Amino acid sequence: MTGGASGIGLACARQLAASGARVAIADCDASRLARLRGEFRPADLYESDVSDPADARRVVLDLTRRRGRLDLLVLSAGICRDAVLWKMTDEAWSRVIDVDLSGAAHFLRAAAPVLRAQRSGRVVIVSSINGRRGKFGQSNYAAAKAGLVGLARSAAKELGPSGVTVNLVEPGFTETPMTAALPGRLRRKAIAETPLGRIGSAEDVAHAVLFFVGPGAGHVTGQSLAVDGGQALGV
Ligand code: NAI
Repeated sequence: MTGGASGIGLACARQLAASGARVAIADCDASRLARLRGEFRPADLYESDVSDPADARRVVLDLTRRRGRLDLLVLSAGICRDAVLWKMTDEAWSRVIDVDLSGAAHFLRAAAPVLRAQRSGRVVIVSSINGRRGKFGQSNYAAAKAGLVGLARSAAKELGPSGVTVNLVEPGFTETPMTAALPGRLRRKAIAETPLGRIGSAEDVAHAVLFFVGPGAGHVTGQSLAVDGGQALGV
C-alpha cells in the first residue's frame, strides 16, 4: 500500500488489517510512519518515495522476499501543488506528475512480474473525480489522475489473463490532512455541489477499496468507482 501513513491510505490500511490482511505501507513521511509502529510491524513500514522507480523495485522485492507473495496492491500516495496554468512552476507540474501518476506506475511495474507469476492479485488505484471533470487550478493534478485511468485500464488488459484485477476509486472532496489546510470556502463549495450534502471521510473511500479487493469484485476489472456523494454529477 503506498501513501498508507495518512488519510485515505491509512484508512485503507486499517480496514484491510481489520479484515485479516497483513498490510505493508510505503510512504515518504518518516515521522508519520514512526507513529504507526505500535499498530503495524516495523518491518512492514517502508520509508519510500514513490516517484523513484528504483525505490519501488526495492520495496516490492523486499516484501515479496519476506512474504513469498503479494496479493493486494493499493496505490494511494499523492500530492497536490495547485496553481492556474499561467502561474504553475515547472517544479509544481513535474512533481505532481512524478508522484501521482509515475509513482503508481513504478509500483505497478515492479509488482507486475510477481502478480503474473502468482496468477492472482488485486490492484486498486486511488484517482480523483477531478481527473475526469477537470478542476480550476489543478491542471497538473487532474492530468495525473486522468493518466491513472489509462494506466489502470491498460494494466487490466495486460494482467487480466493472469487473473489479476486492476480498478480505480475516484474520491470527491474527502476529509484528510491533504484537504484540512484548504480554505473554508472550498469546503463549503464542495458540500454545495454534493447531492448527499456532506464531505466524504477517508473511511468512505476505504470501503470502496475493500470492495475491489474482496470476493464480490472477483469478476470486475478496469473499472472506476466514484466515492463522492454525487459531487461529480454537477449541480
Ligand atoms: P494525505 O496527504 O492525507 O495522504 C497522502 C499520503 O501520501 C501521505 O502519507 C504522504 O506522506 C504520502 N506521499 C506523498 N508523496 C509521497 C511520495 N512521493 N512517496 C510516498 N508517499 C508519498 O492525502 P489523502 O487525501 O489521503 O490522499 C490520498 C490519495 O487520495 C491521493 O492520491 C489523493 O490525490 C487522492 N484524493 C484525495 C482527495 C481528498 O479530497 N482528500 C480527493 C480525491 C483524491
